[in-house]
Parts: sequence; structure tokens; C-alpha cells
Amino acid sequence: MVQKGSMILALLVLSSSALITLPISSYPFSAFPVPSANPIPGVFPSTSPNSPPPVGSELIPDFGPAWAAAKAKAKALVASFSLEQKVNVSTGVGWMGGRCVGNIPAIGDWPGLCLEDSPLGVRFTDFVTAFPAGVNAATTWNRTLIRARGKAIGQEFKGKGAHVGLGPMMNMGRIAQGGRNWEGFGADPFLTGEAAYETVLGWQEGGAQACAKHYINNEQEHLRDHESSHADDRTEHEIYVHPFMRAVQAGVASVMCSYNQVNATWACENDRTLNQILKGELGFQGYIMSDWGAHHSTLAAVAGLDMSMPGDITFSSGTSWWGANLTAFVENGTIADTRVDDMAERIIAAWYLLGQDENYPDVSFNAFFPNDPDTNEHVDVQDDHFKVVREIGAASTVLLKNVGDALPLRKPRSVAIIGNDSGPSGRGPNGYSDRGGDDGTLAMGWGSGTANFPYLITPLEAIQQRARQDRSSVSWFFSNWDLAGAAATALDQDVALVFVNADSGEDYITVDGNEGDRKNLTLWGNANNLINAVAEANPNTIVVVHSVGPAILEPWIENPNVTAVLWAGLPGQESGNSLVDVLYGAVNPSGRLPYTIAKDPADYSAQLITGGNTNEIILIEYTEALNIDYRHFDANGIEPRFEFGFGLSYTTFAYSGLRIWPVQQWDGNSVALERAWAKGEPSPNVEGGSTALWLHRPAFEVTFKVRNTGKVQGGELYLHFPSSAGEPPSVLRGFSDVLLHPGQSKTVTITLSRYDLSIWDTDAQGWRKPEGEFTFSVGASSRDFRLKGSIPL
Ligand SMILES: *[C@@H]1O[C@H](CO)[C@@H](O)[C@H](O)[C@H]1NC(C)=O
Ligand SMILES: *[C@@H]1O[C@H](CO)[C@@H](O)[C@H](O)[C@H]1NC(C)=O
Ligand SMILES: *[C@@H]1O[C@H](CO)[C@@H](O)[C@H](O)[C@H]1NC(C)=O
Ligand SMILES: *[C@@H]1O[C@H](CO)[C@@H](O)[C@H](O)[C@H]1NC(C)=O
Ligand SMILES: *[C@@H]1O[C@H](CO)[C@@H](O)[C@H](O)[C@H]1NC(C)=O
Ligand SMILES: *[C@@H]1O[C@H](CO)[C@@H](O)[C@H](O)[C@H]1NC(C)=O
Ligand SMILES: *[C@@H]1O[C@H](CO)[C@@H](O)[C@H](O)[C@H]1NC(C)=O
Ligand SMILES: *[C@@H]1O[C@H](CO)[C@@H](O)[C@H](O)[C@H]1NC(C)=O
Repeated sequence: MVQKGSMILALLVLSSSALITLPISSYPFSAFPVPSANPIPGVFPSTSPNSPPPVGSELIPDFGPAWAAAKAKAKALVASFSLEQKVNVSTGVGWMGGRCVGNIPAIGDWPGLCLEDSPLGVRFTDFVTAFPAGVNAATTWNRTLIRARGKAIGQEFKGKGAHVGLGPMMNMGRIAQGGRNWEGFGADPFLTGEAAYETVLGWQEGGAQACAKHYINNEQEHLRDHESSHADDRTEHEIYVHPFMRAVQAGVASVMCSYNQVNATWACENDRTLNQILKGELGFQGYIMSDWGAHHSTLAAVAGLDMSMPGDITFSSGTSWWGANLTAFVENGTIADTRVDDMAERIIAAWYLLGQDENYPDVSFNAFFPNDPDTNEHVDVQDDHFKVVREIGAASTVLLKNVGDALPLRKPRSVAIIGNDSGPSGRGPNGYSDRGGDDGTLAMGWGSGTANFPYLITPLEAIQQRARQDRSSVSWFFSNWDLAGAAATALDQDVALVFVNADSGEDYITVDGNEGDRKNLTLWGNANNLINAVAEANPNTIVVVHSVGPAILEPWIENPNVTAVLWAGLPGQESGNSLVDVLYGAVNPSGRLPYTIAKDPADYSAQLITGGNTNEIILIEYTEALNIDYRHFDANGIEPRFEFGFGLSYTTFAYSGLRIWPVQQWDGNSVALERAWAKGEPSPNVEGGSTALWLHRPAFEVTFKVRNTGKVQGGELYLHFPSSAGEPPSVLRGFSDVLLHPGQSKTVTITLSRYDLSIWDTDAQGWRKPEGEFTFSVGASSRDFRLKGSIPL
């Protein structure tokens, strides 16, 4: 069967493999076709985040003028404030001191700010959408959908009157067990950066301020506020800062500093990460707020913190590091009054930047007392956002195995639905506060990164709807422990669908002995035994996994009776409908893994650090350096079960016609900088150095043809740096997607900037082109390369 197919094309670059090289002078540039978009202007002329560049535009926005205008208004307003009032702009009113999880008090006519969780929807209130988790957004590799999700979330925060939505979350899936990985965008910095960029653009277009979090190196939950993360400067820039840089380029209004220490200094008091890197190198114009309780001193102000959240030293203590303390430190000259001006100006500028001074709705909910009639108007902000939820749920379903065309299902006579994860929780969708229970189908993790479900369509419910149409007979069995009962239900059915899961979340809730982080990478609830017991009874067993991240599938993945596996992540409120779209072939699977699924937990490059206690600071050394996730498997020749970027489809794709050519720029101002870069000189380390537009403009265009053949499998693009660069064998540097009808072909274009071809030079503190030959591959995953080329540098 040849189906209409979407494919995700990724560009990974950087390697030492010896391909044919031509010196730049002999490169037949004139023989290359002239790119259609030539000459390419340097930037998208945005005036405000409410009108971002179109999705897929190679042009990065320049929000500089919009920030300057907002800052001028903010300066004028702040100039009319007393010192105490300025301090109040920077100091939250304390935990539960207002209706939102964070509250800045009103000052005169300025209404103050409501800050509210979470990265997947408005937390602690009703009539909101429960969106797919961040990790599902990344798994689509579809910028349009990621932007649309961000926009819908931003609109819902605005609709409820919350000025700041606390997301997206962009920490890296450095360790597979990391409790909050699912809130973020996977284990590759480029994919995470693109997802962060699109999410922020959408979110702020929707009207609410976004908050890039958690800055930085907060990659595990265990003792997150009693650990010090140590990453070398190059790793920090190339892996962990990168997504924040993309958020800054998207005009993000705020950044949240994290609970942990970095090199033995609190993340919220770290001059290096806050002042030098974020505000200096990246040129971040907005404000930095503390994570809730991550603020540890009055002098944090000097290190770059701009807002204390929730404002009190410990929750509800009534004391504050700032407030009266900050006023006193300014009055006796310990902290410069210009710093307090700067804090207030940054915070109020972000409010102007988003246009929140005009017709912004009043806060209409109470996060702490959602049933209080006086403070809850129950405003319905859901609009038709269920549509994007359902679409992302389907687009983020990864087909890991499909033998003998087991999928899509074609009017099966009988369907057995097995496993606790297939149906509802006995307590309803919100029966566990902040989803702190693994009961029924899993559609989000636990912790502050959650929202209440308005409803939750389970797989059981959606498959039954479909059964009516197909006249299939359906049976089900929920217990994961009664293996004989499960096997008996599966016996003699056309297909047995087994639903299993793995959950995780934030450290303040423990579920089944998992203190936020997962204690192992095994699927939960006796899943492996359940799958094998059902497969023994039914030779057409299809496994559906709802998981927060990678899990070890070895106990059953090669079982010949397991004919198909769908990896569905955390799809949000339309879970069952999204799944049915893929199961029955209405949507061709196009999701790609945003992390590696290993054969053995020990195969990953970094492990959860356990032990220690709250009387000490435990050390987390990022010794794997650049070799996060697939880069480590590649560098060490470790065979994964399913590599980063993997995902099957119901159809197949062929690639051909690879071309690459330099993009001409017509901006006289950057010629000198570009020439210096070509000679291998590091980019100047000036304010905004890492976000300087010339460094990020398209330098090369790579094009190739993709054809839906019904025989071959999908495609992505990876870069291989020269060996002198000291980079991993392959790194993702671009991706695009294309929807093709059977037999149809399209030309796909991916651009590379000078930044994409640079490494961070620690001595020079700048981005530099390494010496030697750059090659790249286009393929179907990080290991399935179909086309290879070299870059005419
Ligand atoms: C990405 O999503 C958009 C919006 O729904 C859709 O039009 C496009 O076809 C998708 N791309 C692929 C490859 O599915
Ligand atoms: C500052 O905010 C506090 C509440 O957080 C309030 O009691 C105080 O009056 C405010 N001060 C000024 C000058 O607005
Ligand atoms: C942490 O220490 C390492 C090793 O000295 C250094 O390379 C890195 O830049 C430091 N990071 C920060 C944020 O200070
Ligand atoms: C000022 O900070 C100290 C800690 O140094 C704290 O004990 C005190 O309560 C704070 N004062 C106020 C008014 O919050
Ligand atoms: C300034 O005031 C603060 C708060 O009262 C105090 O802790 C600090 O020691 C004072 N510093 C100087 C230099 O007087
Ligand atoms: C599903 O799993 C949860 C958590 O283990 C358990 O409380 C519940 O009873 C199970 N439901 C069924 C129907 O087995
Ligand atoms: C792994 O953790 C899950 C979830 O808590 C649990 O169900 C399972 O028994 C654990 N497996 C092992 C081998 O410890
Ligand atoms: C596969 O299914 C067949 C037929 O139901 C059964 O005889 C066989 O034991 C199963 N194999 C496994 C590995 O479960």
C-alpha cells in the first residue's frame, strides 16, 4: 500500500570522514543554480513579537527595535517610581499572596503581574486545554505544529489574564531518567533550540510573556537544590546555552534561573551565567526571575537576578531577601540604585513589549482556591485548541516496529485492548493532584509542569468509537498483574493492543517509589511480563507505549508475535483520538525519536546521580561533554535499539539530487566579519556576540529531492565537522518536513549559517570555524544516511 506520507528531513553536520574536497577557488559556483531567494535580506523586519516571521523562514527576527521602544516606555514609567516601588516591581508578594503562583503587586496605575505555570497549559484552573507535553511537540519535528501549540498556549494564558506563562522548559534530556525531561524537547541541542524558538514565537504571538527555563544545568530532580553542575565552557555553550540563545532570538520576555548551583555558585547568583553569558553574549533584554525558592541572597541582584519568586525566603515566611532588605542595601550604597532601576525597567519593558498595556484581560482565576466564587470567573479559553492537540498527538506518535503491515489496522473483526494504560483512572482525569499517580492512561507527567484536563479521551474510548464504524468486536482487560486473564482476553482476537507506560515528574511528589526522576528505565506496572504473556496468546500483538522518555524494550522487542510498536509519549487530552488517527491510517506516522532508546541503561553517556543529602552539595560532573545522547553512541560504536531521529512510516521515501551552494549576502556591514570568520578567526565577543545577526544568516543552502516511493524510508540531515574540531561524529544541524502524495517528489531546502558551522572557542570566547573539511549527510535518522556531500568552504 502506498500512502500519502509526511516526512521529516533533518540536517546533521560535522565529521572527519574523507569525502572528495575541492578547494574553494576551484569550486564551480557558476555552475550552481541561482537560489530563488537571492539576494536574501538579513533579517525579518519585525516590529513586535505579536507579528513574528513566518514558520520556516530562514530569516531570524530582529526584535531590537521593539525592545528599544518598550524599554523607553519602561524607563519613563519607572522614573516616576520611588525606590520602594521599584523594589516592589522586583519582589513577589510571597507564596499564596495573590491569585497566581507568582504575583507582582500593582503600583499606581501599573497593574502588576500574574505569573502562572505551566509549559503545557494554564495550571490550577478550569476550562483550559491540556496540551501534549513538550517532548511530544519536539517529536513531531514539525515547526508549524510547534509554533501553533505555542500560540494556543499563549492565548490561553492571556485569556485567563496571566501575564507570564512559565514555559517553555528547555533543559536537556542529558540523563534518560531525568524526572522533568518530558516537559522539554529531548536530548539534542539543535532540536531543542528549534522547538524552543518556535514555541516562544507562538506563545508571545498569542499575547502572553514566555519564560525560558530552567537556566541552567538543571538536568535531574534528585537534590536539585543541593547539587552543583559542572560543565566545561565549550559544552555549556554548544549544548546547554544553545536553546536559551534561540529563545532570546525569538524575543523571549523572561528567563527563570534554576535551583541548582553551577560551579559551586547558585544559578540565581551566578555572574558568569546570568550577566556574562545571558545578558552579555546573548544580549538578553528581558528579565531573569528565580525559580520558586531558588533565590538565596540579597546580593543576587548584583549577579543579574531581576525578580524574586515567589518573593519570600521560604514559602509563606513573610520575610524576603529583597523587599525591605533590598531597599536597605540600596540606601546604604551596597547595591547601586541603577541596578534596581535596571531590574524594574527590564520587567516593565517586557510587559510593554508584549503590548500588555493595552486591553489585557484581568486575572479571572485563583490558582489556590479554584472553587472560590469571588475570585474565579471560570472563563473558557479553550477555543478550538483541541484540534491542534489531536494533530500533535498523532504527529508525535513514532512507529518503532511494523512487521508484515500489521499497521495500519484494516477493519479488524475483533480487537482486544489490554493494560491499565488503555483506560480511565478510577478517580477521573484529575483525581491525583498535579497528576501524582500512574493510574489509567498516561497523557502527562507529574509536578508543576501540568494543567488540569478538561476531559481525557482514553484509547479505549476512541477505539470503541471506531469499532462501531468498522463493526469490530472489542474486549478489554485492565489489570497488568493478572497475566492469565490478560492472555485469555487476547486469545483468538484479530489483534491484541497492549498499553503500557512509564511516568516521572517533579521531586515534590513520589509515585511508586520514584522521587521525580525514574528509579529505573523499565516500563511500569509489570509491563514486560504483560506484553510477553499477551504475545504468547496472540501472534498479532501491537504495543502502545505512553512514556516520559526512553525505556528499555529488550524483554519483548524482538518477540515475533509483537508485530508493531507505537511510541506515543504524552499526548494530552485527545490521547485516544490521536492514537486512532495513526492506528487506522488516517495519519501516516511521521514522528521521530527526540532521544536514543538504548539496549541497556548503562549505554547512555550520563547517569542519574543518587545519594547525598540536604546537608551537603552533591557534585554533578558533565564529563561526557559534547557527547550527549546519540553523539556518545556514535563516538563509541554502541549499537542502540532505536537511534535518535528514528521513526518508521507506512510509506517509503527516496532521496536524490543533493546540491549545496553559498548564499550571497548584500549587507556591506557584515562583509569584514564574514571574511574574518572564513579565515578561522573567532567572532568578536561583544554584547549580543552570540546572537549577532550576521553569524546566523544563511551561509549555505542545501537542497535535495525527496520522493514518496512506497518502498524506501524517510530522511534527515546531519553535519560532520572536520576532525580538528573535536566534535562528535555527527550532529544535527537542520531539518525540514514535506508532505508527499504517492509518487510525488519535492525539492527540500535546508540552510546552514556560519554559526551552524562553528565551534565555541573557549580561549577566544567566540564562535570559530574549525580548520578542515566539513561533510554532511542527509538520511532517515542519525544512523541511516542516504546522501552525502561536503561544504565548499
Ligand atoms: C506539519 O504541520 C502542518 C500543519 O498542520 C502541516 O500542514 C504539514 O503538512 C506538516 N508537515 C508534515 C511533514 O506532516
Ligand atoms: C510594596 O509591596 C508590599 C506588598 O508586597 C506592600 O505592603 C507595600 O505597601 C508596597 N510598597 C509600595 C511603596 O508600594
Ligand atoms: C565551570 O568550570 C569549568 C572548568 O573550570 C569552566 O570551563 C566553565 O566555564 C565554568 N562554568 C561557569 C558557568 O562558570
Ligand atoms: C532580610 O534578610 C534576612 C536574611 O539575611 C532575613 O532574616 C530577614 O527576615 C529579612 N528581612 C525582611 C524584612 O524580610
Ligand atoms: C547595608 O545594609 C544591609 C541591610 O541592613 C546590611 O546587611 C549591610 O551590612 C549594610 N552594608 C553597609 C556597607 O553598611
Ligand atoms: C491501574 O493502576 C493503578 C496504579 O497501580 C491501580 O491503582 C488501579 O487499580 C489499576 N486499575 C485497574 C483497573 O487495574
Ligand atoms: C522500575 O520502576 C517501576 C516504576 O516504579 C517499577 O514498577 C518496577 O518494578 C521497577 N523495576 C525494577 C526492576 O526495579
Ligand atoms: C506466538 O504465537 C504463537 C501462536 O499463538 C504461539 O504458539 C507462540 O508460542 C508465540 N510465540 C511467543 C514467543 O510468544
